Amino acid sequence: PVGLHTMSELSVRDVQQLLDQAEAFSKGDKWKPKTQSFVANLFFEASTRTRFSFEIAERKLGLEILQFDGDHSSIKKGESLYDTARTLESIGADALVIRHSQDAFFNELKNISIPIINAGDGCGNHPTQSLLDLLTIKQEFGLFQGLAVTIVGDLHHSRVARSNADILTRLGAIVTIAGPREWMGDFHQSYRYISIDEAARHADIVMLLRVQHERHSQRDSFSKEMYHQSYGLTREREALMPRSSIIMHPAPVNRDVEIASELVECARSRIYKQSANGVAVRMAVLKKALEA
Ligand code: CP
Repeated sequence: PVGLHTMSELSVRDVQQLLDQAEAFSKGDKWKPKTQSFVANLFFEASTRTRFSFEIAERKLGLEILQFDGDHSSIKKGESLYDTARTLESIGADALVIRHSQDAFFNELKNISIPIINAGDGCGNHPTQSLLDLLTIKQEFGLFQGLAVTIVGDLHHSRVARSNADILTRLGAIVTIAGPREWMGDFHQSYRYISIDEAARHADIVMLLRVQHERHSQRDSFSKEMYHQSYGLTREREALMPRSSIIMHPAPVNRDVEIASELVECARSRIYKQSANGVAVRMAVLKKALEA
């Protein structure tokens, strides 16, 4: 089945085809499956934009949505993710969209023969977020080759960073990293570390990440003010950015932590454009999964 688990399973050509299809959808292209098709959305972790942009994408494609409520499902009786997915497959679901806190949850679902679309796995991957980020960059710059992209912040916990750093590099962008050094995880091995001030002065794209308090164990020792001053995009740093440079953030945003609240909707912010692009990208991913 043609699901989507990680960006690494997509070739550069696959990515370009998905972005082309997403752009076509955003310009009004239409597609519907030939027969009645059911998609189940299984969100075991909180979500606003991924969940609802999948739902809008599904409605635009004329799909029948099976809403899954974990609190009122047999998960509550101890049923496993595999048994849940196998049951939905057996009763007629044509594809599953899943967000789960377990890294690489999809490895447990190899015997499921309908497409599984990863809507975010723990600290692992978030491929549809990555695709919507790429679409946003493509719309802005028209290409990826040679673009300077700095990913800033909580990289170690970020499924967005993991998905984006690799595909941006494969597409020819120059990826650097910034933020607290102890939060860089294994990114240090492959990407050059720079300061947030250098990122502000030189990057074409300052890609901020949410500080994921829920995945940090020493939450109480974290100072929002100190983080903002040392690693956040302050008004002063934004003023250093070149005219054509943009700010991205997958959201939700911790205002006045990763980014000054007044910059969230500033002229160079593409944060809401990213959210908007989620619908067209998810339509393209669903179409590819269902027409295979
Ligand atoms: N960016 C993102 O995945 O947001 P949600 O958690 O709201 O889906």
